[in-house]
Amino acid sequence: MKKLLKWAAVATVVLVASLAVIYRAVNRVPSETLSPEERVAVIFDDGGCVSCHSENPKLPFYAELPVMGKVVKQDVDSGYRAFDITAMNEAMKNGTAVHPVDLAKVEKVVLDGRMPMAKYYLVHWGSSLTRAKTDIVLDWVWNTRKAMYNDAVCEALAAEPVRPVDFSVPVDPAKVALGKALFHDPRLSADNTVSCSSCHGLNTGGVDNEQYSDGVGGQLGGVNAPTVYNAYYNFVQFWDGRAATLADQAAGPPLNPVEMACESFDEIVAKLAADKEFSKAFCAVYPQGLSQETITDAIAEFEKTLLTPDSRFDLYLRGDETALSSTELNGYELFKKYDCATCHVGKNLGGLSYEPMGLRADYFGDRGLELTNEDNGRYKETSLERDRHRFKVPGLRNVALTWPYFHDGTRATLEEAVRDMAVYQTGVSLKENEVGDITAFLYTLTGKVGGEFLTNDNSK
Ligand code: HEC
Ligand code: HEC
Ligand code: HEC
Repeated sequence: MKKLLKWAAVATVVLVASLAVIYRAVNRVPSETLSPEERVAVIFDDGGCVSCHSENPKLPFYAELPVMGKVVKQDVDSGYRAFDITAMNEAMKNGTAVHPVDLAKVEKVVLDGRMPMAKYYLVHWGSSLTRAKTDIVLDWVWNTRKAMYNDAVCEALAAEPVRPVDFSVPVDPAKVALGKALFHDPRLSADNTVSCSSCHGLNTGGVDNEQYSDGVGGQLGGVNAPTVYNAYYNFVQFWDGRAATLADQAAGPPLNPVEMACESFDEIVAKLAADKEFSKAFCAVYPQGLSQETITDAIAEFEKTLLTPDSRFDLYLRGDETALSSTELNGYELFKKYDCATCHVGKNLGGLSYEPMGLRADYFGDRGLELTNEDNGRYKETSLERDRHRFKVPGLRNVALTWPYFHDGTRATLEEAVRDMAVYQTGVSLKENEVGDITAFLYTLTGKVGGEFLTNDNSK
């Protein structure tokens, strides 16, 4: 009996060892003669990433089997919901820029050793990310990111997913002056009571600190007002991305019935044209005269100046090691550890992609309020089921000043927003000290305007 056990043990060891040898032989590192992109593409190909991260993947035969097929389909559905790899594959093939959010997501799952999932690589031999493959992917991510930005970040932090705000971007000062005046001009509203700054106070963090904004006649909107500070960095404007540019965006509120409630831009042009002094100054800069196009162009030009550089976090990124306390630094580490920096990336810590609200838990079910059309998010624009409850990720610059939080304005404090983000987006219940540290880090994102830290008059 003892002998038999011994033999069984030896046989098992031999079997496992030879399996390991075969496994390694199958799981080969792509040839060094390939370019870094090509090597990563081979690794992703072998990893089966496309099978679970694209719209219409070719699935294996067992996807049609009753029990196993269900598991496969579930993985494919939630994989595609979390991440679409199509654009990244195309970019790598064509040698064009890979999206910074895709880069951050891939970096994170590879750092954590989460992809492909074990149940996949145990069946698909050669697909797992070995140490060597992981190194190839991470080197590629970091080098790509360094090449993507030309901002002055200290060498040690050059591959971070988050970047400092620019000190300024090129603008036409004459247009900026006009845009600034228009931004504060209530004549853009039907009854001359509401200006852009009524809802986007520049002394109140670029927001109104209301759950929903008051428009003309005290009418309430159905979605929380985001800040205009650093909106320049957003890849599209509005929670649902329905405006492609700042100028497109600026054409929205004046005609929105619950915001500024004008019938048409003609109404606004007529009022402004009657102001001889203003229209003379305007036509000196825009010889084509007052129109929707020129008015919104001037406002957009002004909004390019609403950047908030020099936050303490940016000082840190630029190399000042004393800029942050150990609590704040730990908060930044936790921000990366818990996946926050896979959606909140770049100069604005967000504003670069649409992501589902409630990726890992049922946000809308738990909220308990009736669903509104606004809750549909990007779906309102595309009618694609994948876009339901998907929102443009808000930037987190100056977030300490822009309460309440979320598109529905249901979270009064930053601590609540942080705690709930962890639950709904990353599936983690943070410890209270972790909530505190991440919040402390977010406070360091408050930047400067005209050399002074932005404050919020409403907090006094
Ligand atoms: C068998 C299906 C499957 C394969 C193969 C697979 N994934 Fe995933 N992937 C998933 C699922 C499911 C999720 C969602 C996980 C969750 O929500 O908990 C996911 C999530 C992700 C995410 C989003 C980040 C996140 O944590 O939600 C990225 C990025 C990702 N996978 C990259 C990859 C890459 C790169 C590969 C190939 C090396 C790969 N995946 C292979 C199923 C798969
Ligand atoms: C009545 C309040 C109100 C007024 C007036 C108003 N806004 Fe807004 N603003 C909002 C709300 C609410 C949203 C979010 C709407 C949405 O996403 O559907 C928003 C969104 C924006 C955004 C998009 C920011 C982002 O991150 O997506 C910008 C930029 C902006 N407004 C600028 C302006 C400008 C310029 C004006 C004047 C022409 C203006 N707003 C007038 C309430 C207002
Ligand atoms: C999968 C992408 C994703 C991840 C991961 C993620 N977020 Fe978010 N975050 C979003 C989206 C989308 C919203 C807007 C949700 C809404 O308004 O309904 C948001 C909103 C926020 C807000 C509120 C901002 C505002 O102005 O209302 C804060 C604060 C925030 N996130 C912090 C975090 C933190 C901290 C983490 C990590 C624990 C995190 N997020 C992880 C996508 C993400």
